[in-house]
Amino acid sequence: MSPPLTTTTTTSIFSPSKPPPPLYTFLFFTALCFLAFFYTLNPSQNPKTTLFHTTTLFLSSSSNSTISSYLHSLTLHSHLAGTNPSLDTVNYVFSFFKKLKLETHIREYQVLLSYPVKSSLSAHFTNGSFVNFNMNEFVDFSESEKIVAPYHAYSPSGTVHAKVVFVNYGREVDYNALGVSGVNVSGCVVLARKGGGVNRGGVVKIAESKGAIAVLLYTEEGRVSGGVERGTVMRGAGDPLTPGWAGVEGGERLGLEDREALERFPKIPSLPLSFGNADVILGSLGGHALPPEWRNSVDTRSRVLRVGPGPTTVNFTYQGEKKVTTIHNVFAVIKGVEEPDRYVILGNHRDAWTYGAVDPNSGTAALLDIARRYALLMQKGWKPRRTIILGSWDAEEFGMVGNTPSLFSHLCAMGSTEWVEQNLVNLGAKAVAYLNVDCAVQGPGFFAGATPQLDNLVIDVTKKVKDPEAEGATVYEKWAAKNQVNTIQRLSGVDSDFAPFLQHAGIPSIDIYYGRDFPVYHTAFDSYEWLTKHADPLFHRHVAVAGIWGLLALHLADESILPFDYLTYVQQLQRHTGSLSRLLDRNISLHPLVNSIQELASAAKEVEYEIKQLREQESRGGHVDLKLRVLNDRLMLAERGFLDVEGLQGRQWFKHLIYGPPSDYESKLDFFPGIADALSQSTSKSQQNRQAAIQHEIWRVARAIERAASALKGNLT
Ligand SMILES: *[C@@H]1O[C@H](CO)[C@@H](O)[C@H](O)[C@H]1NC(C)=O
Ligand SMILES: *[C@@H]1O[C@H](CO)[C@@H](O)[C@H](O)[C@H]1NC(C)=O
Ligand SMILES: *[C@@H]1O[C@H](CO)[C@@H](O)[C@H](O)[C@H]1NC(C)=O
Ligand SMILES: *[C@@H]1O[C@H](CO)[C@@H](O)[C@H](O)[C@H]1NC(C)=O
Ligand SMILES: *[C@@H]1O[C@H](CO)[C@@H](O)[C@H](O)[C@H]1NC(C)=O
Repeated sequence: MSPPLTTTTTTSIFSPSKPPPPLYTFLFFTALCFLAFFYTLNPSQNPKTTLFHTTTLFLSSSSNSTISSYLHSLTLHSHLAGTNPSLDTVNYVFSFFKKLKLETHIREYQVLLSYPVKSSLSAHFTNGSFVNFNMNEFVDFSESEKIVAPYHAYSPSGTVHAKVVFVNYGREVDYNALGVSGVNVSGCVVLARKGGGVNRGGVVKIAESKGAIAVLLYTEEGRVSGGVERGTVMRGAGDPLTPGWAGVEGGERLGLEDREALERFPKIPSLPLSFGNADVILGSLGGHALPPEWRNSVDTRSRVLRVGPGPTTVNFTYQGEKKVTTIHNVFAVIKGVEEPDRYVILGNHRDAWTYGAVDPNSGTAALLDIARRYALLMQKGWKPRRTIILGSWDAEEFGMVGNTPSLFSHLCAMGSTEWVEQNLVNLGAKAVAYLNVDCAVQGPGFFAGATPQLDNLVIDVTKKVKDPEAEGATVYEKWAAKNQVNTIQRLSGVDSDFAPFLQHAGIPSIDIYYGRDFPVYHTAFDSYEWLTKHADPLFHRHVAVAGIWGLLALHLADESILPFDYLTYVQQLQRHTGSLSRLLDRNISLHPLVNSIQELASAAKEVEYEIKQLREQESRGGHVDLKLRVLNDRLMLAERGFLDVEGLQGRQWFKHLIYGPPSDYESKLDFFPGIADALSQSTSKSQQNRQAAIQHEIWRVARAIERAASALKGNLT
């Protein structure tokens, strides 16, 4: 699932115009539905009219009951990637597409996954008594056997017996606070709570560097639900044994003991813990008092007063196994009639830690409903101009970071990453856009992330879809009215399947969802029942997501000129540069950046003018097919300009120099990741080296923007 990023890269998209009166909107929708009954689609019509009819018919075919039934079927069993029950969902999605008579296929990869064998934890108190903790969640007994025990994927196995220290969120600042009180965690088991901007893998990595010998991690949200949060602690992109290439059967694969593979795994074991169990330990700690700066934020119902070390000790055992396992991506393809070699890709992952009702099958159910509705359009004669691909990814969870705003780790979803790696050249030459939905519905409120040239498309489409809560309003009206969320986020995180498409392959991307957080994240309680009780009782939010998602793809597939606006990208880059300038010393020059953005601006203006002219020619019935194709290629390829062959320093898989994760979770930038890294690494360097490194990264970004400008202009120098 996809957490919202911090606000530094977001951009306000709304002008304060008054929403239309509800009656007007109501009539508009009634008219749309009415029209839908009377039009069948005729491809020989003027392209604009056809898209209008397709849109009308698509919107009128929405249904909350189909989505709810798909979700119910997908979530009957827990379906962790690589396990037998997960094959049921592979078959379900495959036969679903087949029944709709869509061209369907499965791509398998072999990747290294990680499963728990045994875990135990006991706390030993100074008065001689001890507790053996139940490490499972309390759920219906017959079911509980089928749910994977709470664990951290890729944790090494290990048994340790040591004193416990509470380390708050486990950030550098937290260890500094402990240091001030003279607490040294070396040789101890650290107990941390989740949050504070650092993710699971980051907590373990920092603990390791401080000399801790094991990590216990709990979430305060689990206090009510009793849930325990599973998740991965791996470092690296995609399959750890096939870094940068696809894990195909019989292909090259690193050994588990190869240095490059070992670097991706933590060195100390870790386990997730329930709030209740964590609190028993916390309440028994002696030693130093809680640092004053932690006091206000600790859950007031928690019994923690002191941080240790000890005197309570824990006997911690985790035994896991890593094994190379087959995963399955399922595809449906709707061939484009005019430009079959241009791809609009909709993607969602299918695998889940447990039942996965919210994460991710709320998105899968929406994807399947879009397939149903596209098949309906096809029956009425619709064929898209460009090819539409629906992708259902596997094993996202094994490569994904938790739902904190942190960008610390370098992790990526596996099924989608392997596929992008295998198809890199074809995607680079032919993919128009990637549209991601992970957790479609977590709760109320619409959220969107996008590369900036797609902002206006997102806005236009949300103006056509009914709001799930406000009668008579559109999603846009409700979204725009909520000032605090009137932003489109940027996709610098690695928390869902858009990361390989954008950050490795440079494909313009969108990510949409309802609701920011949900308390049963990665627990046994992420079930159909929970979702219908808390997140979307009538499935109206699902309908809204499916509507927006499906319409985005229809526009991208059917508009004769791609709906990309690079002037928006220019404005966003200017704002990024402004934010960057506030963090820099005066003798670092931003001129290269400013100049390159100027170039992109002039290319974008040129294109705007050309589009106007082409539209006129088109409406006069002129033969513009080849001209359209040439212009669209420039629009499509401009984003690829932001890629750099060398990638980010030390993390070469990340090729995009505008959007990607900075390696420091405390970085103030969530754009220009190379510059962000130079800024945060620089403290350890001499002043002069530091400035040279920052300046060099600025030049690299400037050259990337120039490449984009030149691709958009479409001329050789
Ligand atoms: C903590 O203790 C270890 C082992 O005794 C020692 O090597 C390390 O330097 C200590 N760390 C700090 C910050 O004092
Ligand atoms: C021993 O100490 C633990 C932790 O403080 C406490 O929960 C437990 O009740 C104590 N047991 C006895 C027998 O006093
Ligand atoms: C710790 O737990 C393991 C596994 O349950 C057990 O074999 C071992 O004896 C325990 N060690 C101590 C010191 O309690
Ligand atoms: C679909 O929406 C209708 C109208 O709001 C509602 O009555 C119905 O219960 C919903 N169906 C499901 C499956 O939630
Ligand atoms: C930047 O300015 C500082 C202080 O004004 C100076 O010490 C440093 O050498 C300058 N660096 C460069 C690269 O000009």
